Amino acid sequence: MTGTVPEPGLLALAADGVMTGATSHYEKRLGDMAGVYRDDDAYRAALAEHGPDFLVYRVEEHRNAEGQGALIIGTSTLQPGRYGDEFAVTRGHLHAQADRAELYYCLSGTGVMLLETLDGRTEALPMGPGEAVHVPGHWVHRSVNVGTEPFVSLFCYGADAGQDYELIRAAGGMKSLVVADGPGGWSTRPNPDHLGYPAR
Ligand SMILES: [Fe+2]
Repeated sequence: MTGTVPEPGLLALAADGVMTGATSHYEKRLGDMAGVYRDDDAYRAALAEHGPDFLVYRVEEHRNAEGQGALIIGTSTLQPGRYGDEFAVTRGHLHAQADRAELYYCLSGTGVMLLETLDGRTEALPMGPGEAVHVPGHWVHRSVNVGTEPFVSLFCYGADAGQDYELIRAAGGMKSLVVADGPGGWSTRPNPDHLGYPAR
């Protein structure tokens, strides 16, 4: 970096989520997902079958600056799976700076962007290759893989947004579950454990 001017990034995005030019990555494995899925018996059965190191999702990121005005650009690759009738999900979050928006653009697979506001609105938007979701600020969001292949998205959001992962846990999970509904189908169902989100 020269002075305070960040360097441009040249990124190559593959349909399998590999991003040439990424500056960091992280992975969430089955052992990291305790308490995320409503059907804890199904989660524990999956844990016994696949082990705690079984990959659930991988995120690759490109960061070239911190703070207001900078972007974080990356890919999210969510493996397919079912825990009871609930499809595989990312942990989900509200941005710590709640007004920060985000773009998700599907590179491959079949997924749903599950979106909720703190005052009880829910949207479940289907995503396939070439389709994007503009996640506004103030919406809790989570990716869901409703297909049989990895669900891969390009994302882009403000570097000062941050993530509040605790909100969903404290609320007993998101208000809605994305569940299997017939062969190849999905629908949303109220999560009876949801306690409501705290006002912010
Ligand atoms: Fe986000």
